[in-house]
Amino acid sequence: MDLKEYLRKDLTEEELGLLKASFDVIGSIAIIEIPKGLEKKEKKIAEALMMLQSNVKTVAKKVGIHKGTFRTQKLKIIAGEKTKETETKENNVRLRLDVEKVYFSPRLSTERQRIYEMVRKGESVLVMFSGCAPYVCVIAKNSPAKEVYGIEINPIGHKYGLENIRINKLTNAHLFQGDVKKVVPKLKKKFDRILMPLPRSAEDFLETAFKASKKGTMIHFYDFEKEEDLPEKAFEKVEKACKKARKKHRILCWKKCGQYGPRRFRVVVDFKID
Ligand SMILES: C[S@@+](CC[C@H](N)C(=O)[O-])C[C@H]1O[C@@H](n2cnc3c(N)ncnc32)[C@H](O)[C@@H]1O
Repeated sequence: MDLKEYLRKDLTEEELGLLKASFDVIGSIAIIEIPKGLEKKEKKIAEALMMLQSNVKTVAKKVGIHKGTFRTQKLKIIAGEKTKETETKENNVRLRLDVEKVYFSPRLSTERQRIYEMVRKGESVLVMFSGCAPYVCVIAKNSPAKEVYGIEINPIGHKYGLENIRINKLTNAHLFQGDVKKVVPKLKKKFDRILMPLPRSAEDFLETAFKASKKGTMIHFYDFEKEEDLPEKAFEKVEKACKKARKKHRILCWKKCGQYGPRRFRVVVDFKID
């Protein structure tokens, strides 16, 4: 039975129409949106969700959008255990995090799989903006990479990243806390693959990515675009930065890997430095 069906006896037709049927579950925490007009029924909705999903022990509602440098979102617990810390599993790894203090989206697990399946034996991989290290752990665990580096500015995200490397017993993963623009030059390394999962402003970091790239480096550039601008606007950002840095490149593919609003998408552009 789905949430709407279950709540049929507690909500009016109008309220059922407002109810959002989709929600995210991260470990034991469900994160839901309570639309205006349903606040008085939020407890009933949360309890119904816990009845329907036995793995959910806490229900938190979104209080704001993802914002700020750390891309975090304010949440309010409306039912169940009073904790925002949890452990989730995806792509053969365990990931611990605080869902309010660290950015994490379970919806990106198939994109993480797409990436690790591309990684070849012996690669050095750099994950810029690594958060609690989901990409780092998933690649280090499932691919034949030689080493995976991650850089994250949020000290709490970095702390969970270190913990996640430890609990997954990964010996080829290395995390650094700080601003990508400051940390990358200090690494004095060139990578075979660079991931840039900061869609709102990855464009501003392409020059830094080029400093850690060499001929043949594959860059996965994430971006937010409106449906009508796809893929041209995303390609333009890559081309403009390559032109400025005088980098020859080849765009290999692009794809949608998420939606953040009506007709607005998260996209990834894979391109190679020639
Ligand atoms: C959209 S989140 C992605 C996190 C992680 N890769 C994931 O998929 O769960 C972007 C992350 O970049 C971090 N960040 C933002 N600006 C940064 C910078 N200049 N240097 C390093 N990390 C940064 C944020 O704190 C946030 O954790």
